[in-house]
This record gives sequence, C-alpha cells and structure tokens, in this order.
Amino acid sequence: MTILVTGGAGYIGSHMVLRLIEAGHEVVVIDNLCNASRESLERVSQLSGKEVTFIEGDIRDRSLLDYVLADFEISDVLHFAGLKSVGESVSEPLAYFENNVAGTITLCQAMTAAGVHRLVFSSSATVYGDATRMPLSENAPTGQPTNAYGHSKLMVEEVLRKLARSDPRWSIALLRYFNPVGAHPSGLIGEAPSGTPSNLLPFISQVAIGRLPVLSVFGDDYPTPDGTGVRDYIHVMDLVEGHLAAMRVLSDRAGVNVWNLGTGQGYSVLEMVRAFEHVAQREVPYRIVPRRDGDIAACWADASLAERELGWRAQRGLLDMIADTWRWQSRNPEGYPRLRNSLGRQSGGLTSALPRIYLIDKTHASRMAS
Ligand code: NAD
Ligand code: UFG
Repeated sequence: MTILVTGGAGYIGSHMVLRLIEAGHEVVVIDNLCNASRESLERVSQLSGKEVTFIEGDIRDRSLLDYVLADFEISDVLHFAGLKSVGESVSEPLAYFENNVAGTITLCQAMTAAGVHRLVFSSSATVYGDATRMPLSENAPTGQPTNAYGHSKLMVEEVLRKLARSDPRWSIALLRYFNPVGAHPSGLIGEAPSGTPSNLLPFISQVAIGRLPVLSVFGDDYPTPDGTGVRDYIHVMDLVEGHLAAMRVLSDRAGVNVWNLGTGQGYSVLEMVRAFEHVAQREVPYRIVPRRDGDIAACWADASLAERELGWRAQRGLLDMIADTWRWQSRNPEGYPRLRNSLGRQSGGLTSALPRIYLIDKTHASRMAS
C-alpha cells in the first residue's frame, strides 16, 4: 500500500516525504508547484537514495485524483496542499476558499469513490483565533479568524467532522501546527518562501544572510514579558514525526481526532533575534514598528494530548531549530532554483488529459510513460 502526499514538494511536505521513505513507505507526491520547486524532491531523492514518484497536478483535478488513488493503490492520504499566505488571503479570498476548501472537498470525494478513508490534514493553531488563556489545548474554543486563510482551515475542519460523522469508515486527523520552523539537518531541504518572507524566522535568516537590510519587529507593546509577540516554534523534523505517530494511531481508530503539534514553550520575537545572533554569530539589525494587523499577543500549545495518545513529543529545542534554519539558508541563499510564484491557477484548465508523472532521482526527473 502506498501513501499519497498532497503538496509533497512544499516545505513541510518534502520533509515528510523523506521521513516516509526512510520509514520504508511507498510514497506518491501530487503537487501543482504553485509554491514549490521540483528541486526539493530531487534533493529528497539524493538524501534517501530512492526515486520519488511525483505527479505534477492539482488536487482540484478530480479525474487525476481518481486515477492516482486507484492505480497506485493508495491506503492513506497526507494532505499538505494548500495556499498559506495570510496577507495574500485577504486580497485573494476566493483563491483561498477554492484551493483550500474546494480542493479538500474534491480530494475527499475522490477518496470516497476509491474507498480510501484515512486522511491526515494540515490544520493550524490559527483556528484558535485570539485566545486569552494559554496554553491552548484541543478543546479550547476555536476563534474568529480575521483572514480567509484561517477561515479556510476552520471550514475544512468542519467539512471533515461532518464527513466522519456521516460514515464510520473515515479515520481523520486534524493536526493543528503551531509555528513550524527549521530544516533538515543536511541543509539540503528547507523553507524557500517566494518573494519577501512574511514569517519571522525566514525573514530573520534573510536579514542575517544580507538579502534583506533590517527586520521589522511588529510591536513591542503586547502584554508579554518584553512586549513582543510570543509563539510556539516547532522544528519541522519534529512535526513530521508527529504525522507518523498520527498515522499509526489512525490505522486503529475511527472518527475525527484533533491533536496540537507544538512544543508547549513560547519565545518572543526579541528572544528569537538574540538566539539567532548567537547561533549565526552575526548581528540581525531590527527596528520596532507598529503591530501587524490581525496579530495576536501570544500563542503556545498544550501538547500533552499528543504525548498521551500518540506517544509523541517534540525533541528539538530552539537552538536546533535556528542552527538548522541557518545551515539551510547559508547553503541556499536564494532558496531552490525554479521556484514558481503564482496562486497555482493553470492556464490550460485543471483537467490534464495525460497525467504528468515523473520518477525523480537526485540528478534528473524522467517522465514515465502513462
Ligand atoms: P508550502 O506552500 O511550502 O506547501 C504547500 C504545497 O502545496 C506547495 O508545494 C504547493 O505548490 C502545493 N499546492 C498548493 N495548492 C495546490 C493544489 N491545488 N494542488 C496541488 N498542490 C498544491 O507550505 P507548507 O509550509 O509546507 O504548509 C503545508 C501545509 O501546512 C499547508 O496546508 C499549510 O496551510 C499548513 N500549515 C503551515 C504552517 C506554516 O507555518 N508553514 C502552519 C500551519 C499550517
Ligand atoms: N513578526 C515580526 N516581524 C516579521 C514577521 C513576524 O515581528 O517580519 C512577529 C509577528 O508579529 C509574530 C511572530 O513574529 O509575533 C511570528 O509571526 P509569523 O508571521 O512567523 O507567524 P504567525 O504566528 O503570525 O503565523 C504563523 C503562520 C500561520 C499559522 C500560524 C499558527 O504564518 O499560517 O503561524 O500556526 F496559522
């Protein structure tokens, strides 16, 4: 049986694909490359010593999904594909609902038709909104997201709950990530944002490498120890371990399961800057600017449910997260080559007459006859 990884060429997905291959799973990736480069999968192949089966296509393409789910004998789906820029979601809300919500519905319809009922979904701590009581456990009320991205995650959670209630064959994990950072320790795969990064750690590392002049710290008047925003940063390698643990539990448990994936420890923006300066041994110039719209003061996880039920807890500390981010950034100052930058709308429509399937190895991708 084979695992389908949607969005598997992206930041978290590529680390997941590597870990799945290392764990002995057969993997098929589907990604439309709207925010990724095939290069990430070439490097996964280099690290794993195995070929990666990659289908360049869109999760909104039902006929492509029908073909993949049946022909590759898929047993589980790990669903990372989606758009994730909070700012872009405010100016392009329809693209976010169409891609993230409608895309997930198409995926679930195809899974239903193919008799595949195990799904792990990439949700987000953003669903808790502006909560005041920390740490956040899974039964904290979900909030009112201020942007279409957050809404799309909440809507998908609801769709998946209703789906599981309608049919007991479904086993679904809603994994609420806190703030994923870091990179594979090899420095070969990592986060390669297109354009100017909006997240803190990619921004700091681009300042440290000299691509950007100065970090803007969004507000120093929050009710936190140093006035700057506090978040629960989690190493991407710990995050993917959490997915493996969730898959193991899902194989034996029906319904919808919600697990927070965080460390339980919050750090402020200025703590992150100082830790980065310490690890990279260079100054990160910053200036304090007004708060960013939609930001909350603080957010960190109660991750004890995942520890009890999944036997998982984050192992890597802040210095590992920063050291691995810095290694990736210093070795790949411009990120991956060939990164496309669009919302992933395909000019020729979504339905591909012939699936574009590649077997990717570390030096090249060969197109499979299909
Ligand atoms: P990413 O942009 O690097 O990866 C998403 C991948 O999905 C990209 O490779 C993109 O090309 C692909 N994709 C997008 N729409 C697609 C479509 N319609 N069909 C096929 N492929 C498509 O982002 P990431 O950081 O790896 O995030 C993965 C998932 O985790 C996303 O769903 C994101 O919302 C969620 N998440 C991320 C964070 C974070 O801070 N990185 C936090 C919480 C949740
Ligand atoms: N920050 C700055 N300057 C920057 C970027 C960020 O001061 O240039 C601050 C923010 O104000 C915040 C902290 O750094 O206090 C973290 O900001 P990020 O943008 O890195 O992360 P967010 O917590 O705002 O959001 C992230 C993802 C969301 C996801 C959420 C919870 O962007 O998609 O984590 O998982 F939903």
